[in-house]
Amino acid sequence: MAGLVTAATASDVCFVHLLDEELRRVVLAGATPPFDRLAGTVQLALGEGIAGWVAKNGRPAVVPNKWKDNRYRYIPELRGEDYTSMMSAPMLVRGRVVGVLNVHAKAERRYGDDDLSMLTQVANLMARAIENARLYRRLAEREEMLERFATRTVEAQEMERRRLAGEIHDGISQRLVSLWYHLLAAEDAQGDPDRLRRELGVAKDLATQALSEARGAIAGLRPFVLDDLGLAPGLESLARSLTGLEVDVDVEPVSLPPHVEVALYRIAQEALQNVVKHAEASAVAVQLRAMDGEVRLVVSDDGRGFEEDPATAPAVHGYGLVGMRERAELIGATLTIASRPGTGTRLDVTVPLPVGRAPDLSEKI
Ligand SMILES: Nc1ncnc2c1ncn2[C@@H]1O[C@H](COP(=O)(O)OP(=O)(O)OP(=O)(O)O)[C@@H](O)[C@H]1O
Ligand SMILES: [Mg+2]
Repeated sequence: MAGLVTAATASDVCFVHLLDEELRRVVLAGATPPFDRLAGTVQLALGEGIAGWVAKNGRPAVVPNKWKDNRYRYIPELRGEDYTSMMSAPMLVRGRVVGVLNVHAKAERRYGDDDLSMLTQVANLMARAIENARLYRRLAEREEMLERFATRTVEAQEMERRRLAGEIHDGISQRLVSLWYHLLAAEDAQGDPDRLRRELGVAKDLATQALSEARGAIAGLRPFVLDDLGLAPGLESLARSLTGLEVDVDVEPVSLPPHVEVALYRIAQEALQNVVKHAEASAVAVQLRAMDGEVRLVVSDDGRGFEEDPATAPAVHGYGLVGMRERAELIGATLTIASRPGTGTRLDVTVPLPVGRAPDLSEKI
């Protein structure tokens, strides 16, 4: 494209800069040779230089002699000394700047309206292509994440089945077999009231134990508190169950689809488990609030904190942080973790309140 634009506007060189919105700067993304190899290495702050000015203002600039234009900024690598005139157009998608397209000419010349119109149109075509490529990449990333989540879900289900089978086999079934023998013994002891009472007493204890083991096995499957109490009291009881540190709970009732409640509950559960396991905190706070069409869950501690570097940290250590992010992504929530060694950790999940009927993902979660 840079080559075509250069030829079509009878220029000598063309630069394509893309806007990095987060870092508020434009980065050289492509150019006609030999400058193409500088892609990614030349940057200007938003507002800096002519490209930065165009990106900031969303308006084109036609510059007959850049040495007389105080917006111009000399960048040695781009050999500014070889070129005199230039024009620059913002790459716009629905009025939003995604980059800047520049052409430069060696000899002094005045770019006309036709030249600028051509540059503007090419810039907007490129803007749309870039936007599409970005959307496509985001979609591909989301799809990959969903696949990973599905795999983990299947694995987790398998583990859960094995755990349940183990608990039923080793715990509940054994107790029931034993119970059966003690009932038989009681039947045989009709003429011996002492023995009868003893056997029935043991049988009663066994029945109680089997029942509590069955309850325990089921409790691991689904957070029943959510059905019984709802999210806010569920979170409250989860937080209050922590011992050894000061717990501050500030939750208000919210109305969310069941699968979103489960996801938030599980995220809070993992966050609190991390506080207990890693934070060495003296206090933890749990907050649930509904406002401005969103629900916000915050779990913060005053513990030792950690380095939240996505490149090195979470995935290597455990599944917890990754799992929280995946759950958040699935319910369309944003999750941020602010933590630095020595300053405690704050987890923040914001989920938009549903407008229409949301698809029920509870099966997956
Ligand atoms: N609240 C916290 N305070 C201090 N460190 C934390 C906190 N939460 C997480 N971490 C750090 O981040 C790491 C990653 O957490 P993550 O939950 O992903 O894994 P894990 O808890 O070690 O293992 P898993 O959750 O899979 O049982 C932890 O090992 C710990 O070092
Ligand atoms: Mg964890």
